[in-house]
Amino acid sequence: MRKMSPLRCSRWLTFAGMKTVALLLGFCLILDALGAQPMPAEVKQVMGKYACTTCHAPQVRLIGPSWQQLARRNYTPKQLAVLMRKPRPENWPDYPPMQPIPTFTNADAKIIADWLKQIQN
Ligand code: HEC
Repeated sequence: MRKMSPLRCSRWLTFAGMKTVALLLGFCLILDALGAQPMPAEVKQVMGKYACTTCHAPQVRLIGPSWQQLARRNYTPKQLAVLMRKPRPENWPDYPPMQPIPTFTNADAKIIADWLKQIQN
């Protein structure tokens, strides 16, 4: 009897542990399926201002490439600012040209570039 109980206890612990891991995994999978890491508020604000999300989604191609794909280009805030004001459609040959956003500010470019670095993998 004395031998049994620590064993049973550790089984319980393992079981509980596995449940936690499974729950966490499930949660991550759901987040992944939704395509997010939730977007920080300042990023949302920039996106809202220029309606970027009409054409760009986290993981799938819409009118433009996904954020994930864009993140792989590793643009600095400066490069991003220039590209937003004067897009270079030749960088994305199988997409329609992006409309220039002449009012895109350097501060906005930094917010988006920093965020793209974070979601990169
Ligand atoms: C009307 C649709 C549309 C909107 C709105 C839009 N984009 Fe795009 N974007 C595209 C398309 C299409 C491309 C690919 C062709 C191109 O670069 O011209 C693109 C390309 C890009 C690129 C890659 C540029 C390059 O040369 O590699 C970045 C970065 C980008 N968009 C970010 C943004 C951000 C940030 C916003 C909001 C401020 C935004 N886009 C708004 C359609 C859009």
